[in-house]
This record gives sequence, structure tokens and C-alpha cells, in this order.
Amino acid sequence: MQLLKDKIIKEGKVLSPTVLKVDTFLNHQIDPLLMKEIGHEFATRFTNEVITKVLTIESSGIAPATMLGLEIGAPVVFARKRKSLTLSDNLFTASVHSFTKNVTSDIAVSRDFLHADDNIIIIDDFLANGEAVKGLLHIAEQAGANVVGVGIVIEKGFQDGGKNLRAQGVRVESLAIVNELEEGKVTFAEEEAE
Ligand code: G4P
Ligand code: NA
Ligand code: NA
Repeated sequence: MQLLKDKIIKEGKVLSPTVLKVDTFLNHQIDPLLMKEIGHEFATRFTNEVITKVLTIESSGIAPATMLGLEIGAPVVFARKRKSLTLSDNLFTASVHSFTKNVTSDIAVSRDFLHADDNIIIIDDFLANGEAVKGLLHIAEQAGANVVGVGIVIEKGFQDGGKNLRAQGVRVESLAIVNELEEGKVTFAEEEAE
């Protein structure tokens, strides 16, 4: 998605060879017009699917997920993160380990909001090692719901999340795939579909 790549080039800050900071439009301040276009782009890429629910994880997945939900007229559910879950039998839960932050958190979604007849799309801001998406897939599986695919705003192609998910047969659509973050410069994957 050219608009997104231009924004990353213009405003993204390469913090290290593995971390891209995009606080000006995605992770702290949000650019609503860009988010609207992102929602439209996800809807276009998954236009052949009937989607009944958009599933994401707090906090940075909520903005792009909501814009997709608005575009396709589907509710948006976000998994909540907890340090430790208080026991409840009304929750679907999964354990998500972040290699980047070296913490494991429990994520949870109420059983009231996902059902066996749902066709779910999973949305997130970043795809690195894929642990957050794996947790959301596990939650969808507990609900007995169908997952039509995964939509990612920025995939880090040099980490294994996208490769592993695609190898499992999961459809992953990333709007920008960053191949390299060397010497302060962002390089995108050539093969990314437009
Ligand atoms: P994974 O789910 O793909 O395995 O990713 P990882 O554990 O590495 O990610 C942990 C957190 O760091 C996630 O945010 C993820 O979005 C974010 N993240 C990973 N790589 C980058 C990066 O290069 N740049 C930025 N800006 N963020 C990155 P989170 O802790 O869930 O926070 P939130 O922003 O959603 O609240
Ligand atoms: Na996220
Ligand atoms: Na994030």
C-alpha cells in the first residue's frame, strides 16, 4: 500500500536493526485518514470473504480493526491483555510470549462475543514473531469459529511470524512488508502485492 509506505518513509524512525518506531500515526498518535484508507485496503483484499467479526488485540490493533469494521459493517472485538487472569469460565484465553519485550501475557476475550458461526478476520498493527496472532488464532479456535485470514499493517519480513503462519496455510495480507532496517533506512519487500 503506497500511501502507508510513503508515511513509513516520511515519519518512521529506525530505532535498531529490528525495531521501527511509528508513533506519529499508529502506536501513539493516530492518523485517522490513513487508518480509514487502511480499513478500505483490508476490505478490498478480503472482498471475496463474508466476514462477521473483526478480531484484534489491544491497544494498537484497535484503530485499524475499527476502520475495517466500519467499512464492512462488522463488529470489532479486541482481546484484552492481563498480567494474570482472574479465574473466569466465561473467557477464551491464550498465553502470548513477546520475544521483543521478553514478557508473557495472558489475553482474553469474553465468550459472549465470539461464536461457532462467526467468520473472523484477525487484524494487528505489527507482525514480528507472530505470537500475538497465534494467540488470537487459538482464541478463535476455542470459539469454534472460522478464520478467513489475517490482516497486518506492518510486517517485519526478517522475522518469522509471517513465514510460519503462511506455512500453516493461514492467509496473511500485510499492507507493508519491511525487509530490512539497516543504517536507519527502511527497505520494503519487492514482492508485496499492491
Ligand atoms: P509478535 O506478536 O509478532 O510475536 O510480536 P512481538 O511479541 O515482538 O511484539 C510485542 C509488541 O511489540 C507488540 O505490541 C508489537 O506490536 C510490538 N512490535 C513488535 N515489533 C515492533 C516494531 O518494530 N515496531 C513497533 N512500533 N512495535 C513493534 P504490544 O506490546 O502488543 O503493544 P500495543 O502497541 O499494541 O499496545
Ligand atoms: Na499489536
Ligand atoms: Na504494537
